Amino acid sequence: MSLHPLNNQHVVIVGGSSGIGLATGTLAKQLGADVTLISREATKLKQVATQLGGVRLAIADFADEAAIHAAFADLPTIHHVYVAAGGFVGGNVLEGSMADFRRAIDTRLWGSVHVVRAAVPKMNGTGSLTFTGGLSTDRPVAGAWATAVATAAAEQLARALALELAPLRVNAVSPGWTDTPMWDNILGAEKQTVFSGVATQVPVKRLSLATEVAQAVIFLMNSATVTGEVLHVDSGHRLV
Ligand SMILES: NC(=O)c1ccc[n+]([C@@H]2O[C@H](COP(=O)([O-])OP(=O)(O)OC[C@H]3O[C@@H](n4cnc5c(N)ncnc54)[C@H](OP(=O)(O)O)[C@@H]3O)[C@@H](O)[C@H]2O)c1
Repeated sequence: MSLHPLNNQHVVIVGGSSGIGLATGTLAKQLGADVTLISREATKLKQVATQLGGVRLAIADFADEAAIHAAFADLPTIHHVYVAAGGFVGGNVLEGSMADFRRAIDTRLWGSVHVVRAAVPKMNGTGSLTFTGGLSTDRPVAGAWATAVATAAAEQLARALALELAPLRVNAVSPGWTDTPMWDNILGAEKQTVFSGVATQVPVKRLSLATEVAQAVIFLMNSATVTGEVLHVDSGHRLV
């Protein structure tokens, strides 16, 4: 895929120290953007900054409204924001922990709203916001209802805010199974076996790389007439 340069564009990635967010920050930097990465763990962020060189950092939990406003306060004019932060929250509705279920929504939905309220005043009415949904919106899994509801909320937020914040553009990316540190933490040594099994089930017979989801996010940033879109990068998984 050939992507337009992002010279003189300030791109902010919330959840930029790992996986899809890091891949997007890396690609944006390669395309000439001025990049700011925001996430919770300072050590991880600093390691990544050393690796990339010349990126701005801020520490914040995006579920914490005050912390997100503080992280955005000193940033210069923003052109594009990608909200990658989020994670998988499991738990059967009858037996799981209410605190975990609340966390799923507090992060992906309210976290995205906090980012919108902190970022948009710095965007001069143009540019783009991209949220992260996921395969679970179309293919919910028993025992992970809260994640499915949260990803659906992020995707619907993009459609609703595309009207409310226009002409600023608002989209979502919906990744399928993507090989990132999130799965190292959840599946550990089983990861490759599980991934190979899933790959045999999907139409294109392989799963996405984080860099491929990142390309889709950059496409959304660069596409001046695409708004209210949910771009699926899932090897066709939602269809089978
Ligand atoms: N990988 C997949 O298969 C897949 C599939 C569908 C959807 N997704 C979604 O895609 C997004 C990226 O996933 P990934 O696989 O790249 O995960 P990842 O490797 O675990 O990266 C998540 C990033 O978000 C940050 N983060 C997490 N919670 C945060 C919070 N409350 N506030 C601020 N930063 C936070 C993490 O850093 P800190 O922990 O230091 O804060 C990290 O930089 C997530 O929303 C995930 O749910 C992933």
